[in-house]
Amino acid sequence: MTMLSPSLLAANFADLKGDIKKIEEGGADLLHLDVMDGIFVPNISFGIPVIKSIRKVTDLPFDVHLMIDRPERYIKDFVDAGADIITVQAESTIHLHRTLQEIKSYGVKAGVSLNPATPLDVLEYIIKDLDLILIMSVNPGFGGQSFIPSIKEKIRDARKIIDEKGLTTILEVDGGVKLSNVEEIVDCGVDLIVSGSDIFGAEDISARTKEFKELIV
Ligand code: DX5
Ligand code: ZN
Repeated sequence: MTMLSPSLLAANFADLKGDIKKIEEGGADLLHLDVMDGIFVPNISFGIPVIKSIRKVTDLPFDVHLMIDRPERYIKDFVDAGADIITVQAESTIHLHRTLQEIKSYGVKAGVSLNPATPLDVLEYIIKDLDLILIMSVNPGFGGQSFIPSIKEKIRDARKIIDEKGLTTILEVDGGVKLSNVEEIVDCGVDLIVSGSDIFGAEDISARTKEFKELIV
């Protein structure tokens, strides 16, 4: 079964509570939260106070995707804000292993995200410590971009590595996933799908969430 994590980045920021209720109605499994600092990526989104506030209005697990420079500076803050999964970009920290250990020390699931150009090799010696691998299928920074076709091969390769090692690591894909291409992406072996603009940009957000869920079962 593939799970769905709608990305709040594309929601109506003036009514986050209302939009979250709609994806809950549609059957979303998690809520994907894109934190951007204007340094690691050329865009600024939202941070700790927003996450803390929405923690009070939903029981959905928080899938926090940190696109910030040296995320080790803020791990405890995101844990306290209510994160259930914290994923850091492999390119954003020199001390990847130490950062993952810190995330896990708080009892939170630890993930690593890879930019499109970053090879899977960087995971070789840490994969057994990982709860989740996030494969970026766009260059991080903005919603609404197009899925990079060559990433399908990377997803299949990651699936193979996880299975060959007999691991239960969750394989997540993020960027450019739409109703029109979600099936072919899921077929590459994905456990957790992120979609932002195609869900929150829909006329009926809850119906669109439901359509996604029906396609990925
Ligand atoms: C991109 C973010 C994605 C983004 C996905 O930097 O990490 O999570 O919100 O949005 P769509 O589905 O519109 O590509
Ligand atoms: Zn993301």
